[in-house]
Amino acid sequence: MRAGFNITLECHKSRNCPESDLLARLSMRYRCLIEHLTQNHLQRNPMVDQAIIDHLNEILKHEWTGVAQYSQAGFIVEGVWREVYAEKFLADAKESFGHAQRVGDKIVALGGVPVATRNEVKQSRDLQEVLQFSLAFEAKAVEMYSKAIDMAEGNKALVIFLEDILTEEQDGVDEYTKLLRNSEGAAAGAKSSQKTA
Ligand SMILES: [Fe+2]
Repeated sequence: MRAGFNITLECHKSRNCPESDLLARLSMRYRCLIEHLTQNHLQRNPMVDQAIIDHLNEILKHEWTGVAQYSQAGFIVEGVWREVYAEKFLADAKESFGHAQRVGDKIVALGGVPVATRNEVKQSRDLQEVLQFSLAFEAKAVEMYSKAIDMAEGNKALVIFLEDILTEEQDGVDEYTKLLRNSEGAAAGAKSSQKTA
């Protein structure tokens, strides 16, 4: 047994007892069962596990960036739209914090150490530009969680964990796409695309 398990069931009366044969067969069945249960663990590639942990840490950095970037956007938005967007941006900061919590916990569960750093924060006093930054932020999150799901193939629980968060990131993409649609920002973006086309 590679895993070091050794189960032997013996009849306490005698080896010739009719129960002995049954117990011997049960012993073999238990060995097979335990070997099967431990096989997945034994076959896990430590390099793959480390790659997933590293990528989850990249995601965690992105989520910490979201906490700071959305908070900053909520702080500095001014004018009449402050009534709407200050609350929305702070809610998105809280969502990023929630994702950071879940990903950080998962990194530890996988045996890694969560990062406590973030990427550069994009900020602007121009609301349209902030909305574009937000859309780009959510789209990058979708890309990163999608990659993590590909890497986690075979680990169903981890895939489902990541898919739950991915759904919320896609909601973010959808929401900012709608907010930017037909807005000045979208028009400016379209113009600049035409220039570079
Ligand atoms: Fe997130």
